Amino acid sequence: MKERRALPEHDAAIDALDSATRAQLAALWRERATTELGAGWGFSLLVCELHALNADRAVLALATQGAADEIRHADLCVRLASRYAGHDVEPDPVAPVELPSHPGTEPRLRMQLHAAGLAISETLAAAFLERCLGEAEREPNASPTVLTVLRDHLSDDVSHARVGFAHLASRAVSDAERAAIAALLPRLLGANLRHWRRRIVELPVVPAHGYPAHDALLQSVEVAAREVLVPGFAHVGIRAG
Ligand SMILES: [Fe+2]
Ligand SMILES: [Fe+2]
Repeated sequence: MKERRALPEHDAAIDALDSATRAQLAALWRERATTELGAGWGFSLLVCELHALNADRAVLALATQGAADEIRHADLCVRLASRYAGHDVEPDPVAPVELPSHPGTEPRLRMQLHAAGLAISETLAAAFLERCLGEAEREPNASPTVLTVLRDHLSDDVSHARVGFAHLASRAVSDAERAAIAALLPRLLGANLRHWRRRIVELPVVPAHGYPAHDALLQSVEVAAREVLVPGFAHVGIRAG
């Protein structure tokens, strides 16, 4: 288990915010904590499926670590939300998480699709976080607490995406399963991109606090889909039709 990350003791950027923006950012990071807990739940379900697929031990170890990382992410989000709020906050509990049902697919292929889904969702999350971090780092009055949280989440999400790709490249996935995933890949990519487009346009624009302009974020996830995911899947023998 990784250690609990220390946050900067003082944050003049948070102190300088008006109360309405502070309240808005507190609410957003509190929501993000619930989302991270849901990601942890989903990751745990995926770990069970990877066991059932007889995944490589290295993949199992990294995936199990990933499930724990998401809980640590939730903890960081709660601490950041509490800083913005000026008092301790607790996230809402997570609604029960189920992995996508992919109607019409056999159970084994469904589990392989969940691993592909992990590679997609974590790659797009990493692209989103990378842009949030890059834009914040350019701001002279960036919040050091936000920078710490974004760096932590970004490095983990890059590893999480690798878990999905490492599994898809392994002997635990047959060529027939790779072909079946390839046939469904455009649909999986499209669904994930729609989710991110919807989510991004609802966000506030506060670059120094990790919320850059919508256009920049939209461009980042589109480019990641085209220039990271499509070639990444091709690299593991899954070529979108
Ligand atoms: Fe996360
Ligand atoms: Fe993640």
